[in-house]
Amino acid sequence: MKINILAIESSCDETSAAVISDGKVLNNIIATQSVHEKYGGVVPELASRAHQQHLIPVVHQAMEEAGMRKSDLSAIAFTQGPGLMGALLVGGSFAKSLAYALEIPLIAVNHMEAHVLAHFIDAPYPSFPFICLTVSGGHTQLVLVKDYLDMEVVGETLDDAVGEAFDKTAKMLGLPYPGGPEMDKLAEKGNPEAFPFPITQMKGLDFSFSGIKTAVLYFLRDRLKEDPGFIDRHLQDICASVQHSLITMLLIKVRKAARQFGIHEIAIAGGVSANSGLRAAINLEAKEKNWKVYVPKLAYCTDNAAMIAMAGHYKYLEGRFCDREVSPIAKMKIGNHG
Ligand code: KG4
Ligand code: ZN
Repeated sequence: MKINILAIESSCDETSAAVISDGKVLNNIIATQSVHEKYGGVVPELASRAHQQHLIPVVHQAMEEAGMRKSDLSAIAFTQGPGLMGALLVGGSFAKSLAYALEIPLIAVNHMEAHVLAHFIDAPYPSFPFICLTVSGGHTQLVLVKDYLDMEVVGETLDDAVGEAFDKTAKMLGLPYPGGPEMDKLAEKGNPEAFPFPITQMKGLDFSFSGIKTAVLYFLRDRLKEDPGFIDRHLQDICASVQHSLITMLLIKVRKAARQFGIHEIAIAGGVSANSGLRAAINLEAKEKNWKVYVPKLAYCTDNAAMIAMAGHYKYLEGRFCDREVSPIAKMKIGNHG
């Protein structure tokens, strides 16, 4: 019999369901929550409510498109954390109840590990060990990936995530939420060297992105005092310059990690890996350094259940199930398996 897993993702503002059969992702249904747009950021309470509304429809669609009945399922996988507590509880409670009712195993997935495992949805697959730069709205990590379920965080941000730096800069510039993709589009037409923003250097493989946020704030305040039309006339150059600093900070540490571990297989994952500037910069670096670079399809960069399904599949193969009777939510860290 085939291993069929229904996966659920509800950690932030995407409600998503996917079905995977014998390791092949059959679909990836995502309901994006537009309710947050007018607030310029994710409102946790509204996210939980929107998950309640969207979850059953996305699950129905995933099951229907896969041509599966509930009785065909071998297990249910869900995002256990990290994420917004209320949002996680919606997906987690649903997954737990369904697994309980169907009397099948429940698999708790670490959202950050799943971002890394998105690289195994479609070929070409990275070979172990590889380094994954996982960059999202909540995290910035350098992960040494030794096997599907054996990963170690070797560097991370000590303050803001890089996605947060994109989103906060975008907000200061009056761009709609989420700001990362908007800045990416504008940056393509701007001059990355127009304005020199700081390149913060932390010790070892760690990052810091709070300095650039403050630098942008003061820069805009000073320029706007002299010239109220400054942002409008220089929007593309500001976006390109901030993006350039952020990418430079990321690449310095990727280079350092590659050297330190003697690894040439480099992957990027998470929402910010959709950034065209980062993709171009890492590909350029790959040519110089003889790296093999892996970049997921756009749909698998931002939050999605296909990556949860992939992680669920590997955990199923190893029999790593969680107790259906206990609380489904936990503070997950890479390397800590529920
Ligand atoms: O992985 P993700 O969907 O959710 C989290 O787990 O946080 O990442 C969302 C983040 C947001 O900060 C968003 O602005 C950023 O990814 N993002 C981008 C791009 N697409 C999404 N940042 C820069 N350029 C993009 N093209
Ligand atoms: Zn994510």
